[in-house]
Amino acid sequence: MTSSLLQLVEIPQRGDARGSLSIVELGKTLPFTVKRAYWIHGTRPCVSRGYHAHRELRQLFCCLRGQVTLSVSDGLTKEEVVIQAFGQAAILGPGLWRVMSNFSEDCILMVLADREYDEADYIRDYEEFRRAKNHG
Ligand code: TYD
Repeated sequence: MTSSLLQLVEIPQRGDARGSLSIVELGKTLPFTVKRAYWIHGTRPCVSRGYHAHRELRQLFCCLRGQVTLSVSDGLTKEEVVIQAFGQAAILGPGLWRVMSNFSEDCILMVLADREYDEADYIRDYEEFRRAKNHG
């Protein structure tokens, strides 16, 4: 998959006879220091989430189980990727409207972020997002 709005990265795995171990490490897979981690799970069928952009936040989206569709837009271009457990992770910078949909029932979506939670960093109104991107 190629994408220009988001960066897709392989998460290295070390496997041996006991099983597998996946690694996300600063300066290798991860381009920022993590200040916060959260994960989304138990998503009800047909639910989509997100519908916001961030002013500054950088994030890595990584599926620990199942899969989810991640759609991002800069107001002009839209890209969609399926994030799967043990597949590629997606790194999102600021200024991207995002929607997560088609969660598998078992999906556990882990997000690593470079800032603490701050509601002021969210743009939750799509028209405001378009104006902030000078497309409105
Ligand atoms: P939100 O980011 O709006 O979820 P999504 O984009 O997946 O739909 O967060 C949902 C709620 O959880 C919202 O009330 C804010 C709160 N929240 C925190 O308190 N801390 C956090 O780190 C995050 C990500 C959300």
